[in-house]
Amino acid sequence: MKIIRTADYNHMSQKAAQLMIEKIRQQPGMTLGLATGSTPKGVYAELIKDHQENGTSYEKITTINLDEYIGLLPSDPNSYRHFMNSELFDHLDIRLEHTHLPNGAAEDMPQESERYEQLIKDLANIDLQLLGIGRNGHIGFNEPGTSFHSRTHIVDLAESTRKANARFFNSIEDVPAQAITMGIASILDSREILLLASGSAKAEAIRQLVYGEPDEQFPASALKLHENVTIIADEKALSLVS
Ligand code: F6R
Repeated sequence: MKIIRTADYNHMSQKAAQLMIEKIRQQPGMTLGLATGSTPKGVYAELIKDHQENGTSYEKITTINLDEYIGLLPSDPNSYRHFMNSELFDHLDIRLEHTHLPNGAAEDMPQESERYEQLIKDLANIDLQLLGIGRNGHIGFNEPGTSFHSRTHIVDLAESTRKANARFFNSIEDVPAQAITMGIASILDSREILLLASGSAKAEAIRQLVYGEPDEQFPASALKLHENVTIIADEKALSLVS
């Protein structure tokens, strides 16, 4: 596992964007795995800036996101589809039909999970997957205890995760109780993984990731089983790692 230490959130975002842009330029038809949440927002802003200033094209890029809330329509301002469109896709020359998120409003969610997993296979896997990390070590919405063999599936969100995400909603009651997420095995099929972390709230999770053994009680530790993972984190997130 490679670790890139940056001074702060802005430098983390710039470094991650720089690595992604290099890959996109080398491989303009690549499949990018994307994440939502606060952490990648700065990276997305950097990608947009680069697209506007340097013309990096996303015309041939396909994207596939990690997860989506169940029960929110794609048009809901709190849906991850809405987040991705407004934070990134609407500002690039990407074709929206080449951007994929699970449909959290599908009538048959088990079938939607199968469709999404098949889609990853049909895309011949993800070339570069961007990840954030939860304070409890979750990646995607794979909470502690999730099997490392899991594929796209439906999850009951941990109370701590609902609380952490309540900041985007009017109240915690409005945070959906379930989500659909790529599984750990689906994520590990990616050719390369970039995990981002910023701030002291993530320091303990990053310490456990760097020093711990693979353990299903700490989902991110599955990344230890992957050969091409880079952590890009700022000083605060790396404060417990020497
Ligand atoms: C989002 C996702 C989550 C977040 C994690 C960290 O698509 O998969 O695992 O990456 O909850 O969230 P932030 O970045 O808001 O701290």
